[in-house]
Amino acid sequence: MPVTERVTNLILFCKWFYFCIGLVGAAALPRASFCAGEGRNPHGLNRIDWAVGVIAPQPSVHLLEVGCGHGIAVTKVCDRLDEGEIVAIDRSAVMIAAAARRNAEHVAAGRATLRVAELRSFDLGGRRFDKAFAMRVGVFTRGDPAREFAALAQLLKPEGRLFLFHDEPSTGADDVGARLAAAALRQSWQVEALSAQIFDSSEVACLIARPPA
Ligand SMILES: C[S@@+](CC[C@H](N)C(=O)[O-])C[C@H]1O[C@@H](n2cnc3c(N)ncnc32)[C@H](O)[C@@H]1O
Repeated sequence: MPVTERVTNLILFCKWFYFCIGLVGAAALPRASFCAGEGRNPHGLNRIDWAVGVIAPQPSVHLLEVGCGHGIAVTKVCDRLDEGEIVAIDRSAVMIAAAARRNAEHVAAGRATLRVAELRSFDLGGRRFDKAFAMRVGVFTRGDPAREFAALAQLLKPEGRLFLFHDEPSTGADDVGARLAAAALRQSWQVEALSAQIFDSSEVACLIARPPA
């Protein structure tokens, strides 16, 4: 067998092996760790309202959002802030421009800071957040998010919390949640809770995790 083919097979085997380790870890999570709210959406909330409710930003909290898109969650978080602040990043300048237009008042008031940035290389000079979250940011369920988790471990306080929300049209929240948990466990994050919420057009999985000790 040519050397290149052997190397390719070895890489594929390693990926498969790490994926299996993650899945076993996720399966070992106690079912009781699914948080309250699991099940059908009881109050007619949309997915972003629900997610912001799960994050539960206290008025003085410092948050990071990864992949803010149009900045809808930024608006909803800022509506709950007093002394606190949200820094929201997106690798797309177009999305950050849209989020800035939508949140101009909150930016002017110093509650929101919006940056064009890719998570894996985002650095705020050692500044750390109480909570970080991402909604529908595909890297956490596809590919290898090792560098993204490493960046988040540097950006969160040791007692901080990461909230990942994700849904996919082709599969259910159990599958998405298992992949989120597997990815976090592979990077030695401590998975605190896994939950799911069913909406009219999607099932959203939510993972809450703490940085590696
Ligand atoms: C599907 S959109 C979701 C937008 C919004 N969070 C929502 O739930 O409606 C994903 C967004 O994340 C951004 N994104 C994806 N990967 C990223 C990364 N590694 N770092 C920063 N932004 C990222 C994309 O540019 C895009 O705007």
